[in-house]
Amino acid sequence: MSAGKLDGRVAVVTGAAQGIGEAIARRYAAEGAKVAVVDVNVDAADAVARSIVEGGGVAVAVQCDVASRESVNAAAEKTVAELGGIDILVSNAGVTRPAMLWKMTDDQWNQVMDTHVGGSFYWLQAVAPGMREREYGRIIFTTSAAGIIGTIGQINYSVAKAGLLGMTRSAARELAPAGITVNAVAPAAATPMTETIRTDERFKDNYLDSIPLHRWAEPDEVAATYLFLAQEDAGYLTGQVLSVDGGRVMVR
Ligand SMILES: NC(=O)c1ccc[n+]([C@@H]2O[C@H](COP(=O)([O-])OP(=O)(O)OC[C@H]3O[C@@H](n4cnc5c(N)ncnc54)[C@H](O)[C@@H]3O)[C@@H](O)[C@H]2O)c1
Repeated sequence: MSAGKLDGRVAVVTGAAQGIGEAIARRYAAEGAKVAVVDVNVDAADAVARSIVEGGGVAVAVQCDVASRESVNAAAEKTVAELGGIDILVSNAGVTRPAMLWKMTDDQWNQVMDTHVGGSFYWLQAVAPGMREREYGRIIFTTSAAGIIGTIGQINYSVAKAGLLGMTRSAARELAPAGITVNAVAPAAATPMTETIRTDERFKDNYLDSIPLHRWAEPDEVAATYLFLAQEDAGYLTGQVLSVDGGRVMVR
């Protein structure tokens, strides 16, 4: 049997109970990583972790609301206690609270900001000290086309995802001396989050026409890029954002 690409590594994947995060957790485990399946929905996270273990992998479910620093710190401590020091962080947990800007409430604004920007920052601070000590780390944030080109009805989400581009680049510079890479993926995939734009007659054709490859990806197809960035081999790639979206966002 060939060696796994992440053999012996400990990975945290947030928002791993479904969608893209679940696909990443399964891929990482299949490549030999010990995976913390982190999610606010602990029952679903448990089911994912159990199925990874049944398939011969190593995984634990860790309940965490990424929007709470206390919850993130407790989840990081639990991960280290059960799996060892964290080598790979995938910050992927996310929510959308759409509304046109003139109707958006403070709650909608804050929930999206706290989950994406707060959640990524709390996890960054939770893992960086251990990675610096061990002089190794792979950090991957999850941004979006919304943060690059903007989206109608999602000013909160677009601002949060654009903020993650700044977080990626600043953290990449601060952590580079310790051999830690920090990158971002801007994915697009068929998940519960995108159900409305994939199925609602008002959006679906327009959206599909905006994708040069003219199809939606399965989450696993996006997870392949997260695997690439998590490997030791990707050590000379930092501060970058990779759009894995069928060509929807490109320079023209
Ligand atoms: N699916 C796409 O096309 C697409 C496009 C661009 C960006 N993204 C981003 O990719 C990431 C994953 O998206 P997805 O489509 O798989 O979404 P999803 O809704 O299918 O899954 C999101 C997961 O995050 C978890 N979560 C939500 N809030 C949380 C919190 N506070 N703490 C912990 N866990 C929390 C949910 O329980 C869920 O399991 C998100 O950051 C999303 O913004 C997705």
